[in-house]
Amino acid sequence: MVSASQRKIRSFVLRAGKLTKGQQRAIEELLPQFLLDEKIKFNKAVVFSNQNPVCLDIGFGNGESLVHIARMHPEINFVGMEVHSPGVGHLLLQMEKYNLQNIRLYQHDGVEVLNDCFDDNSIDALHIYFPDPWHKKRHHKRRLIQAEFIQSIIPKLTNNSRLHIATDWQEYAEYIQEIMADFPHFKNVEQNNGFTARPDWRPITKFERRGINLGHDSYDLVYHMKK
Ligand SMILES: C[S@@+](CC[C@H](N)C(=O)[O-])C[C@H]1O[C@@H](n2cnc3c(N)ncnc32)[C@H](O)[C@@H]1O
Repeated sequence: MVSASQRKIRSFVLRAGKLTKGQQRAIEELLPQFLLDEKIKFNKAVVFSNQNPVCLDIGFGNGESLVHIARMHPEINFVGMEVHSPGVGHLLLQMEKYNLQNIRLYQHDGVEVLNDCFDDNSIDALHIYFPDPWHKKRHHKRRLIQAEFIQSIIPKLTNNSRLHIATDWQEYAEYIQEIMADFPHFKNVEQNNGFTARPDWRPITKFERRGINLGHDSYDLVYHMKK
């Protein structure tokens, strides 16, 4: 029997989300074609039948950013990770609408998938947009961005790859800055480990718009990996 202390601390809580009819259909009809198996090693030649660069999005939500960038860059292979079914259904509907062939997804814990499925030097960009901030101090251990997590992605990323994180929670943004300062492999594109302007590949999503309406600013941090 697994004790409470041995249980893995995850960065999400699985809630039973309600699916629209369209999302339900997309999951039934389209998911089998695009879903990757977290028990199998990721191999881009097998999955995408090409050698294009690979960009990951952990916690893609409803997939708005993922679809935007995948439409801009058909020459890149995108792999998204999300645990909530309505978001997965929404992404699939958008992929159908725009006939996108350069996205695959895992409906599983992205931290585990990254560790278990991806070889060293196999990821060319990693996007983490608006990770749950877990506001309360006693919940900070649930935050996706932790020193341990950053350490774990170093071998997986290729030289010159990009790590792009965005959040609208200032205290989390500063916490991430602090963590990243301890990893000299990651070179911030700005001076003094600073925030950068939102790049054109990251659209303002519905989620971000809600934050803006509440008076939140957004903070983008972009790093390049130098091995
Ligand atoms: C606040 S939402 C942001 C969604 C989206 N990135 C955006 O910018 O609109 C955070 C999302 O991350 C997902 N998430 C959190 N931890 C995750 C993990 N370890 N693996 C996969 N998804 C995760 C949650 O389910 C949630 O949908």
